[in-house]
Amino acid sequence: MPRPLIIDCDPGQDDAVALLLAMANPAAFDLLGVTVVAGNVPLSLTAHNACVIRELAGRADLPVFAGCPRPMLVSPRSAAHIHGEGGLEGADLPVPIQPLDPRHAVVWLIETLRTAKQSVTLATLGPLTNLATALVMAPDIAGKIERLVMMGGTIGAGNVTPVAEFNVYADPHAAAVVFGAGLDLTMIGLDVTHQAPATPARIERIAAKGTKAALAVAGLLRFYSARYAAAGRGDLAGAPLHDPCVIAYLLAPGLFAGHQMHVEVDVSDPIDLGRTRCDRAPRDGHKVNSMVMERVDAEGYFTLIAEALARLP
Ligand code: BDR
Ligand code: CA
Repeated sequence: MPRPLIIDCDPGQDDAVALLLAMANPAAFDLLGVTVVAGNVPLSLTAHNACVIRELAGRADLPVFAGCPRPMLVSPRSAAHIHGEGGLEGADLPVPIQPLDPRHAVVWLIETLRTAKQSVTLATLGPLTNLATALVMAPDIAGKIERLVMMGGTIGAGNVTPVAEFNVYADPHAAAVVFGAGLDLTMIGLDVTHQAPATPARIERIAAKGTKAALAVAGLLRFYSARYAAAGRGDLAGAPLHDPCVIAYLLAPGLFAGHQMHVEVDVSDPIDLGRTRCDRAPRDGHKVNSMVMERVDAEGYFTLIAEALARLP
């Protein structure tokens, strides 16, 4: 039976690939809807981009809901220097025909979880503002969340500050709410995603699949990799393909390995703001609250993505 799934995201090229990977696997996922949040680029653009991607996948029926336009407390921070001003530069993409669903993402999330007959898996690929707001407004929904798999955080080095990863740093207070909510939470952070660069050879393997979706992804990834290199990450063999790790983990957990840890988000120290402090031997009365992934089989991961894109239009 396909598992009910909601994806919360801020597309972004890597979010787009994650959405396509999920849509290419209808036997694994009953995708109930996509919620979007401000993150890589402002909300109006992330919402538009999610609609573009569902169009590309031939899934105009999939509802897209716009959520929170800004983080809880900190000032909005974008990643347009990496993703381009529109968030999805690099490919010729279709113009979306279907409009956004008029309901607010947080309201829809709460209603959907409350009325779900079966508990629902959540995949988050952006700042955690929508989910944290839903949990604050309706704490009872935690009981309807089967599990949360999130792209965000880092055990080691950050990508916005020396110690903080973008999705957590962009709304650290929301992340603190989510890590403290007692969910079955799997964190896939930079330690993993930096093992999975979109190298030129991997991009060409995707392009060779020849579908509209594969050719679009190849274009998006060429742009995204060039931007990473221009931003001073020429040391990487290509842009880290962060967000699809979440969907790949749900499809093929054997590609990943990690440990249970206690994770706490720093919201008080200005130097460490947004740092995910990961402790595999919890002390000071803390308990394990997350499964933290540490490794990925990158070749297996890119094969999964290429094969999925070959099944789309
Ligand atoms: C995360 O930040 C965004 O730029 C990407 O889409 C990904 O979700 C990586 O730090
Ligand atoms: Ca993202």
